[in-house]
Order: sequence, then structure tokens, then C-alpha cells
Amino acid sequence: KPVLLADYRPPEYLIDTVDLDIALDPIKTRVVSKLSIRRNPQSKITGKTPLKLDGELLELESISLNGKKLRRPAYTVSETGLTIPAPPKEPFTLEVTTFVNPEANTALQGIYLSRGVYCSQCEAQGFRRITYFLDRPDVLARYTVRLEADIAMAPVLLANGNPIARGTLAGRKRHYAVWHDPHPKPSYLFAIVGGDLALLASMFTTRSGRKVDLGIYVEHGKEARAHWAMDSLKRAMRWDETRFGREYDLDVFNIVAVSDFNMGAMENKGLNIFNDRLILASPETATDANYESIESVVAHEYFHNWTGNRITCRDWFQLCLKEGLTVYRDQEFSAESRSRTVQRITDVRQLRALQFPEDQGPLAHPVRPESYIEINNFYTPTVYEKGAEVVRMIETILGREKFRAGMDLYFDRHDGQAVTIEDFVACFADASGVDFTEFMRWYTQSGTPELVCDLTFDRRRKAAELTVHQTLKPSPGKAKKQPQFVPLAMALLGENGKEMDIAVEEGKEIRPGVLAVTHHTTKFRFGNVTSRPIPSLLRNFSAPVNVTIALSDDDLAFMMHHDSDLFNRWQASNKYASRSILAHLDAKRPKTLIASKASKFAAALEHALHDSTLDDAYKAELLKLPAVADVAREKAVRVDHAAIFEAHRAFSCAVAEKLADTLDEVYAHTSNGVKFSPNAKSAGRRALRNAALTLMTMRGTGDDYARLEAHYRQASNMTDAAHALVLIAGVDSPARDDVLQDFFERWKDDHLVIDMWFAAQAQSPRTETLDEVKALCAHPLFKITTPNKVRALIGAFAMANPLQFNRADGAGYDFLAEKVLEIDALNPQVAARMLGAFRSYRSLEPKRKGRAKSALKRAAMATRLSRDCREIVSRMLED
Ligand code: ARG
Ligand code: ZN
Repeated sequence: KPVLLADYRPPEYLIDTVDLDIALDPIKTRVVSKLSIRRNPQSKITGKTPLKLDGELLELESISLNGKKLRRPAYTVSETGLTIPAPPKEPFTLEVTTFVNPEANTALQGIYLSRGVYCSQCEAQGFRRITYFLDRPDVLARYTVRLEADIAMAPVLLANGNPIARGTLAGRKRHYAVWHDPHPKPSYLFAIVGGDLALLASMFTTRSGRKVDLGIYVEHGKEARAHWAMDSLKRAMRWDETRFGREYDLDVFNIVAVSDFNMGAMENKGLNIFNDRLILASPETATDANYESIESVVAHEYFHNWTGNRITCRDWFQLCLKEGLTVYRDQEFSAESRSRTVQRITDVRQLRALQFPEDQGPLAHPVRPESYIEINNFYTPTVYEKGAEVVRMIETILGREKFRAGMDLYFDRHDGQAVTIEDFVACFADASGVDFTEFMRWYTQSGTPELVCDLTFDRRRKAAELTVHQTLKPSPGKAKKQPQFVPLAMALLGENGKEMDIAVEEGKEIRPGVLAVTHHTTKFRFGNVTSRPIPSLLRNFSAPVNVTIALSDDDLAFMMHHDSDLFNRWQASNKYASRSILAHLDAKRPKTLIASKASKFAAALEHALHDSTLDDAYKAELLKLPAVADVAREKAVRVDHAAIFEAHRAFSCAVAEKLADTLDEVYAHTSNGVKFSPNAKSAGRRALRNAALTLMTMRGTGDDYARLEAHYRQASNMTDAAHALVLIAGVDSPARDDVLQDFFERWKDDHLVIDMWFAAQAQSPRTETLDEVKALCAHPLFKITTPNKVRALIGAFAMANPLQFNRADGAGYDFLAEKVLEIDALNPQVAARMLGAFRSYRSLEPKRKGRAKSALKRAAMATRLSRDCREIVSRMLED
């Protein structure tokens, strides 16, 4: 049943050209496909080799080979495809006519309708829901597509590549457009769109002078909200030229925003299709976080043109080849467009919050998995975010210049091919002469390495010794693991807070300041250590690992003041806070303990808040204390979310009390008044103000609630309004109902903004939340077939409300399991994603764990579970 990497074989047949004629109709879309097919010279096939084309949910009308109609048994059809048992030895043409039903397509794979717009999603295996094909990424073909539709319903007709013809049909009711894509591509990059859409048009001239027509298609009336996406696109196109030497390669580049989409966006060649929440933005309707994700996802999909499209994956096990690399590229773009340190903090927060739990739980898999049942289940934080970290480590090991040389070689050597991770890494090895054999384990071993470090200091000999013990816990399918090659960026801070100029006398340095941790135990000796050193380890988070080393509260406070690595300065503060909260959990006299920890911590924070060399966005990161879920993850075993929530509240409240004056000051100084701009500086100011507001609200006094309400009422942009909305929805403030009502009335006609209203209520830690979420499932604006709605309400409850999802009585688990089954019947991909909320259930305290497990077991017993959910549930329940 599972597909194995080890079973990969080159395709027996190749398809050189594809001619599609698609007559769009809401319930009966006709697809005529003409394929030129030949035997693959690379494949050692002999004699009669059957041609097996993939196909699902297709209604077959006719099939002919070299112009001759085929009749059974010259072909056979099953639920998964079409087989021609004895095709000719010479190249031949196959013509197949099938019908699909876009309106009935609730899985949103293949061709479907989204608010009256025809669109398609093919990655990973949706093309087989459009026509019979060799639906695998190593079959590259040139496509010509003729689209036909009602003029009224679909005045806009788009496909990949360049437009070559269009016209109106007799009767003037229908029209057509023909598109040709000169670049051979795998079927997963195929896309079409047909609908009544508004266009925001612009132009871009590449550095070699190619003029490119840029288009962003959105719902009528929303054109003005697409300017930020357009601006982001142009900056991304320029950046790829300057940083990686990559130019765009067609005459047009189109983006279409649709409202029903399983994921964020899709990099179809020349025709990116986006979830509209990642395109549309205005100061009134979008938060700074929305603006940031639009910028980074627009860039991400654009960057895929080279890392994914021009060079694609040999098979789906190589998914990280395009995703990890493209995430790395979009993170670099964001880092250079904004603050590099803040970007790094954001990315690491995200990695720890989403990928670390995956790596430590039943869904753990290597960055390059070795087996899957449903490939859609592997679009994971491990493949994407850890995959990006692995690419970043290559850059750390080689340095910027040699890394670029390796990338250049990759583009040169593999343009137009479908390749593997080995091919990719070989380019860096060949360009630099560095041996990456051991490094490859990052792609094959799952789990987050733990580096337990110990530093000793010999004052007399002015020497220090660092011992690093690396452990890798077993994970599903892998009991014994080999040590990873870890680039450990570090420095020793002296008494004066400055980096000491140490000499590495024993142990390998990759380059100055980056140690090579290579074994289960690796030792380093440093000379010229002139005072008691404070270790600043894993600077800039140089590897996706956990590091532990004995540091006192004073050491952490010292690092918060002095560490010249701003990432580690933040890390010290984060560590200080989370460990204080954890200490509260098993303290005998928690009040006294918290009081003393909080006052030291507050003093260190205060110092940073007054430091004029730090920017607002960075200060905001310092003020955002670790979330309940972060502390739960640090606890790792016997997690009781209610206890953590209480400890978290006590600590935050104590810090807010100690910092009262400073917070007042920060809040007042960052007040609005200037004209809105989405740029990093203005967003940083809002972030700092809102972080101060959050902390102050933790005290929960009448004054705090009054300030909170005023913040909402006076907000002149969605960043401030939404921030206040979430806080108010989470507390029993007298204004709560009024504010929620006000927000609803104002935004009920805006389907994107109203998602924030659903999410704010679903995230509330109040005990009533589950009942309210159940009631909201029946709200007229909630639609279970729209993934954004499911994510806003059910997703926010399950993934962003640790307290109420993990209710001690298990009702949160039962609710989720029940909803997953309901969604699974409509959209398996979205249902399987929701199940991810259970990924850490094994680290719960016994009662909760038992309840989560029985909810999962009940789901497992459901009669009609999709392959997607079946795979997740069974991996969760395996021991
Ligand atoms: N390639 C897309 C991106 O990362 C995501 C497509 C997800 N598709 C899926 N079937 N899970 O930009
Ligand atoms: Zn991607």
C-alpha cells in the first residue's frame, strides 16, 4: 500500500506534447486531451509494455490511438486509471475525451468552482482529476491549452505560458482563448482559470530587457487591495536577479486570488493561484502580519519559477528539494526587506512551534521521507521549514560566496530537469570541494538533535573546555540514529560583556566562530580565555537543534544586556521567561518565587526597552513572552495545560506589574498619529505598542480593560483593531459583547475580515469557548466547505487555543474528531490537516492523553475515512 522511495523507477513512457481543449461548464466540463507519447529510452522496457495512465473521478467518453477509435479490451479503465495493454512500439498519439464536474468538486483538487470562478489545483496529484496522464513530476511536456466558456460567466480565461489566440464562437454566447507554454513542465504545474475577475495590471522589465506583463486578478471591487501584492511581486523579481542571478522567462506573469483554496498558494508556471487572504490587503482590512505573509508568499511562489519549475523534483519524496530551498529563499528575501534579526526570530519561533512538535511526536518523518500513503500529508513543517534550515546550514558551512557558487552550478547543471536531493547537494560539494557525505543525514534522519553542553573554565591556564553530547531520540521507523553534523555558531562572552578573542586549540572549527559538532560526544578546547566565560551558543540559531547548558538567571540577564548576537539576546530573554513559568509549576511557594524571578526579568527587559540602538520590532519580540503552547512544549512530558496557563498568567502579571511605568511610557510613545504605512518601521512601532498592551492586559484591572476597549474603538487600522479584538474576546471585560458585535456589524460583508472574528472567539481561553465554537458552526457566515472558514473557526480552536482544546474533560478532542469526520467526507486534505492538532497528544498528562487517544480511536473506526485521514490516524495510534 505505501509508496516507497526505494521503489522509484524511471517512467516507461514519456509524453512530449499535450494539447488540451477544455470546454468549461459548471457540472459537465469536457476535456479533450491529445498526447504525443513515446517509449522512454532510459527505461529498459521490452516487448509489450502496458501504458498505465493515472485518472480519478473522470467520466470517459472516447479514446483513440493514432486517430483510430479504441474499443475494449484494447484499453481498460479502473478507479485509478486507464491502461492500454499493448501500445505501439513507435511514438503515437492518444486522444481522450472525458468529463468532470467542477461544482461537485468539494475536495478542491483538479478543476473546481470557487465563488463562481473556475480554477484548478494540481499539486501533488490533481491533474489526474482533469484527464488521464502520467501524473508524476519526472514526465515533462510542452502544453498548449484551448479554454472555452460562457462569456458572461467567464470573460477572463487564463492558462500557463503565453496567450496566443482568442475569439468568440458562433452565437456570441461563448468564447475561447489559447495559451502555449514553451517550457516543458510536469503536470502538477498545470493550471487554468476562468471567471469574471477584475485585473490589476502592471509591467516589469527584467535586467536583460524582457518586458513582462504582470497581472493580478481579483474579485471586482477589490483591485485596490492588490497593490501590496503587486509591489511585493516586483521586488521579488528584482531580488532574484540580484541575489541569485535568476530572471523571469515568459512574456506574462499572472496571479489569481480565489476564495476556496486548500493551502496558501500554488506556483503553477506563469499562473500562480492564491488563497485570496494571501493577496488582498488594505490598512483597514489587513493586519501587519497579513501584509508580511502576502509579501513572503508572493515571493515564495515567484521564486519557485526557478527552484521548482525550471528545475523540478524527480519524485514526490524529493519535495524538500523545491520547498525547503524556496522557503530558504523567501526567508532571505524577507530578511533583506525588513529586519534580519526579527525575521530570524519569527522563523525560529515558527519552526519551534510547528516543526519541533512534529519531529518529537508520532508524525515525525525525515526532511526527505522514505514512504508515504498519501503525499498530500507530507506538505509539512518538516519538509518546508526544517528543509529550509538544512539549506541554511549549507550556507553557514560554506559562507555566502561558495554557497552562491553551488547554487549557480545547480541552475547551470540541472535546468530543465527533474532531480533529487543528491543532485542538489552534489552541486555544493563540487563547487566548494567540501565533503557533504555526513551532512546528508539531515535529509534521512528525523528528530530534533539535543545538544547537552558543558563548559568548564580553568582560570589559571586561561583555558575553557566545551563538551557537547549529542542525543537523537528514536522516532517512528528509526530506532538507532547516527550523530548529525551540526554547525554550532558560538562565542564566549567576557566579564565586560564583549566577545572574547579565543583560540580554538582542540576541536574543529568550520570557520571562525562556527564549530563542527560531529560525534555523539565532541570536545573543544579554547585558549586565551581571560575571564569567566558566558557561552553564547547556537548563535543566530545556526542549526535546527535544542541546546541545553547550565546558565543561572544572572547569566541570562547578563546575555539579555550584552550578547552581541541579537538573536541570542532574544533567546536569553525567552529562555528566562519560559523557565520561570516552568519553575512556578512545581514550586512550593510559587508566589515568592515568581515575585523574585519576575523582578529580575523585568529589570533586564526594562534595560532593553530603553536601549535606543534596538528597533521597535525587535523590542516587541522581547516583550512577547513565550506562549502557553511554547511552555507546554518545553515541559515535554505530563503536560497539563490548565496548570501551565495559570503559571503563565501569574508570571506575566507579575512582570507587567513590575514594568508598569515603562509599559505606560512605551504605550504612550508609540501612539498612532502618523499616516499608515505597511513598512517594517511602522509595523514595528505597532507591534511594540500592541505587545505592551497585551502584557498590561494580563493584570486584568478595570483600567486595563478600559484601555483595551479604547484601543479597539480608536484603532485606525486593522492591526490595532484585530489585536484588541483577540484580547477582548479572551477576557470577561464588560465591553466584550459590544465589541464583538461592533466588529461583526462592520465587517459581515467582508469574507476575509470576518474570519478574524471567528478566530478571535475560537482562541479565547474562557471556559465558554467550546460551546460558543459549536454555536458558531451553525452561523450563517460559516461554511464547512470553505477551507478558510474551517481554519478560522475549528483550526483556531484546535491549534491556537491550548487551554480549551485540551480541556480536562476531553470535550475539545471529541469535538475536533467529530468535525474532522464531517469535513473528511467533503475535503480529505483539509480534514487530515486538522488532525495534526493531536500531534503531541503523547506528551499530555495521563488523563488528557487517554481522552485524546480515545477520540483518535473513534475516528479510526469511522467507516468511510479517506486515505489522507486514515494515514494520519494510524501513524498517531501506532506505538
Ligand atoms: N507548492 C505549493 C507551495 O508551497 C503548495 C502546494 C500544496 N499542495 C498540496 N497538495 N498540499 O507553494
Ligand atoms: Zn512552495
